[in-house]
Amino acid sequence: MLFGADYYPEHWPRKRWPEDAKLMRAAGFNLVRMAEFAWVLMEPSEGQFDFSWLDEAISLLGENGIRTILGTPTAAPPAWLCHNYPQVMREDEWRRKVTFGNRQQCCVNVPKFHDATDAIVSAMVEHFGNNENVIGWQIDNEFGRLCYCDDCLGEFHKWLKQKYGSLDKLNDAWGTVFWSQVYTNWHQIPLPWASSNVPNPSLALDYRRFMAESYVKYQQRQIKIIRAGSPGKFITHNFMGFLPEELDYSALAQDLDICSWDNYPSGCSPDRPSAGHATTRGLLNKNFIIMEQESGAGGWGIMGPMPKPGQIRLYSYQAVAHGADGVNYFRWRVCRYGTEQYWHGILDHCGRTNRRYEEVKQTGAELQRIWPEIEGSTVPAETALINDMPSRWSFQVQPGGQGFNWREHAQDYYSALHEANIITDIVPLRADLMKYKLVVAPALFVLSESDAKLLESYVNNGGVLITTFRSAVKDEYGRIHDAPLPAGLEFAGVDVIDYTSPNADEKNLIRSVYKDIPEGPYGVKEWIDVLEPVEDVVVLAEYAGPYACGLPAVTIRKYGKGSVIYVGSWPSRDFIGKLIALASERAGVRPCAKTPANVEAMVRRKGGTDFLFLTNYSAEPCEFPVDREIERVLIGKLESGIAKLESFGVIVAAVKAEG
Ligand code: GAL
Repeated sequence: MLFGADYYPEHWPRKRWPEDAKLMRAAGFNLVRMAEFAWVLMEPSEGQFDFSWLDEAISLLGENGIRTILGTPTAAPPAWLCHNYPQVMREDEWRRKVTFGNRQQCCVNVPKFHDATDAIVSAMVEHFGNNENVIGWQIDNEFGRLCYCDDCLGEFHKWLKQKYGSLDKLNDAWGTVFWSQVYTNWHQIPLPWASSNVPNPSLALDYRRFMAESYVKYQQRQIKIIRAGSPGKFITHNFMGFLPEELDYSALAQDLDICSWDNYPSGCSPDRPSAGHATTRGLLNKNFIIMEQESGAGGWGIMGPMPKPGQIRLYSYQAVAHGADGVNYFRWRVCRYGTEQYWHGILDHCGRTNRRYEEVKQTGAELQRIWPEIEGSTVPAETALINDMPSRWSFQVQPGGQGFNWREHAQDYYSALHEANIITDIVPLRADLMKYKLVVAPALFVLSESDAKLLESYVNNGGVLITTFRSAVKDEYGRIHDAPLPAGLEFAGVDVIDYTSPNADEKNLIRSVYKDIPEGPYGVKEWIDVLEPVEDVVVLAEYAGPYACGLPAVTIRKYGKGSVIYVGSWPSRDFIGKLIALASERAGVRPCAKTPANVEAMVRRKGGTDFLFLTNYSAEPCEFPVDREIERVLIGKLESGIAKLESFGVIVAAVKAEG
């Protein structure tokens, strides 16, 4: 198993490096990631390369059994580049040039930045491409910054020409007749600059698609160079889990060998990092690695909490439980200078070992011990949650509901699944949905007719689908459908005959009218779709006022071999949990174990064996029965069917697979 840390030898005197290597080796490391911000040291001036320091670090670590993932340094362009070629700097939506002094300040559409990228990446690949201590490459670092410069504008025009062919088509698709925006020349088309407040939503949506593709292309130019000159080494990019809304991670992932992500749980509840793992796993539908796993207090200006004793180990196990095949900590040692003086790693500023080092060491030793058994196992999710970027992008421009936030809405459903220990992948809309028994599609705002058909055939073929308000509102161009809502999801059997986004001080309620869900009432956070059930629909809940009192709010319908649930509002977590229980029972999806609150259960499967991971996120120890056929206990205490978890404790057991 890959186990190590992000290492910045350039931040420390060379005489310290052997000590670092010795301590890493003692901690069981076999991996470091290096160089992703060291452009200026590798190319001190244009076209002059110096890799001697990195050669030395790579070989010293190699002698200690530690191999390297090399980061291409394009997220930290050097001062000479930004100063000599100011056109490389990004522009924000106010058309202000980003100034030098941070990172990620260059635009991926500027030709000079392409040249500079090609030069540094080619030189690195030529130098390190066949270095036996280099096992893989990370492209750039956490892609995600949008740009609004003239080069982006020019490329956007080309992109639009290719997409629409004629201005008539574009004008029609965007509805530019509104406010006299009809374009008679491609050059008239703007970017969604800030001055336009809420821009034309269709233009804004196409701009986001264009930016997402710009990053895919920019990544491809680096990948092409690496594949040609560094055969046999894997290529990854470090994503940021479920949170980011800028780009299309799934499009970026298609060109990678393996995905990775940067996980900073900061002691938060486990459903949040769990969603990050589920997103990263869902990108290529396979295991992944953690490129940056929190190992100390974080923060640039203000520090977050220091992981409590046991939490570094706990969240490392959580990552492995969710399909991580490598855990790499950020960072080896907290830097004495620069913006991240407060962003702690394993070692403190002064470089001595501490309790965090000891915990990392223990975690590594344990994981390596059990790795031969769990290697090759994968996470057997039967449920998926759809993460659709065009919908998220459109909600950014027009959230619609007064308190609406798609991410929090979707997270509520994910958290309810997580609380029930139902293993869930977070996937794009076009994923192979048929492999899942239950699919949750929260507020699928942008839905083309053909994508609606995919969902219909999923249900028709036996799937259970939960969908929620503000689904199928817009077509793929961002125009509102010319049909009753949810347009294209008629198979849900409901017609949205009225809706409202209530003021925050109006407390609306729903109550269950279904025998298996206690009556409530339950609060709703946001939005009311008043539903008129057409045909053979069963009403699960109705509004309990003040708005639409007594009218249907949540429905279920059997359709073909499956079922579809429509949730017209954003009910409390309590109600969502009950709905998930109902839907999963109908879909035949079972929790991987029953656990008390604060204890997560996850499974990795290999052949007929499930590796059950039980992780306790509470400082309180707990005991509970485990209703699975236990074969062997690998970590922790699980005797006579009773799990005994310590404060932030972990159990890993081989149990008979259920499938
Ligand atoms: C990550 C980033 C790292 C480091 C870390 C702590 O997002 O990839 O380079 O900045 O956050 O701030």
